[in-house]
Amino acid sequence: MTRFPFTSFPNGWFKVAYSDELSPKKVIPLHYFGKDLVLFQTEDGISHVFDAHCPHLGAHLGHGGQVNGTTIQCPFHGWVFNCEGNCVEIPYASKTPPKAQIRSWPVREVNGVIMVYYDAKGESPTWEMPELSGWNPKEYTDFKRYSWKIRTHIQEFAENGADTAHLPILHKFGDITSISVEKNNGSSFINTVGIKYGKQNQFFFKLFGRNYDIFMKHIWDGMGRVCNDVRVDISDTVKVNTFSVFLPTPINAEYVEMNLLFSIKKVFGKLITSFLHHRLLQDAIANINHDIPVWENKVYRTIPLLCNSDGPILQVRGWAEQFYDQ
Ligand code: FES
Ligand SMILES: [Fe+2]
Repeated sequence: MTRFPFTSFPNGWFKVAYSDELSPKKVIPLHYFGKDLVLFQTEDGISHVFDAHCPHLGAHLGHGGQVNGTTIQCPFHGWVFNCEGNCVEIPYASKTPPKAQIRSWPVREVNGVIMVYYDAKGESPTWEMPELSGWNPKEYTDFKRYSWKIRTHIQEFAENGADTAHLPILHKFGDITSISVEKNNGSSFINTVGIKYGKQNQFFFKLFGRNYDIFMKHIWDGMGRVCNDVRVDISDTVKVNTFSVFLPTPINAEYVEMNLLFSIKKVFGKLITSFLHHRLLQDAIANINHDIPVWENKVYRTIPLLCNSDGPILQVRGWAEQFYDQ
């Protein structure tokens, strides 16, 4: 029996690889959305994702498929497919069967992330994944990466960002001082949380010996990308900014691959920036590690019993409904 009252695979854009993992002619087997897929780059530098298995006798194109120009050739009998997935050549036959076609998925590269559009009915994208807003490569460091495989549903992850009440308890954050929903419109949802930190949160307290305020902005673009834009106000003049990009992709009905890209705004020179980047990434990883045992063992309450100080969980649920086919 499934743990969730909805499909494991909502519609939208999801990360399947980083751009620097691919180069012209490279072919990589993938498994997401409970499906075998193949990711490859044609010689014109464009990335493609196809269903993995050849319509002829079922070979996996990700294991031995060869890219030539803008085509990929099956390793088994050499059928050749163009970028749209149509068979354009069979080396030992004069005609290609009209149904000789393999499914080609919509692919985009955004800020160094290769994303595919999953749609339960196989329909075309209804929206585009925007470039990151609030982060730029001039002011911020390159992203450090981390990833997990978690037995949960990406809906739980979406709700976690709006569940402000768990922040002081599970994550030992400070006291919540403000909560707001800035945007709930189309494919994006933005909420903000203010937190007052004290002694209980050792790192900055130890470093600067004083209480401080944190302002977090969660930016969802569909359910496959959630950014956490954080400003730490140590004092009026000393501020630290971090930028996390969470990229959850369903692997199958049970597991989600969670990827984290983590960057900080350059501050106090190279050495201190590099120290803070490394140290604050450990905190970001620790925070997800707090959530994992909860996610892996909880049930999903379709009608949760909420109280007046819970965050905008129901608003996120309402917003997320658009990504599930009725
Ligand atoms: S299985 Fe692909 S060409 Fe035969
Ligand atoms: Fe959490």
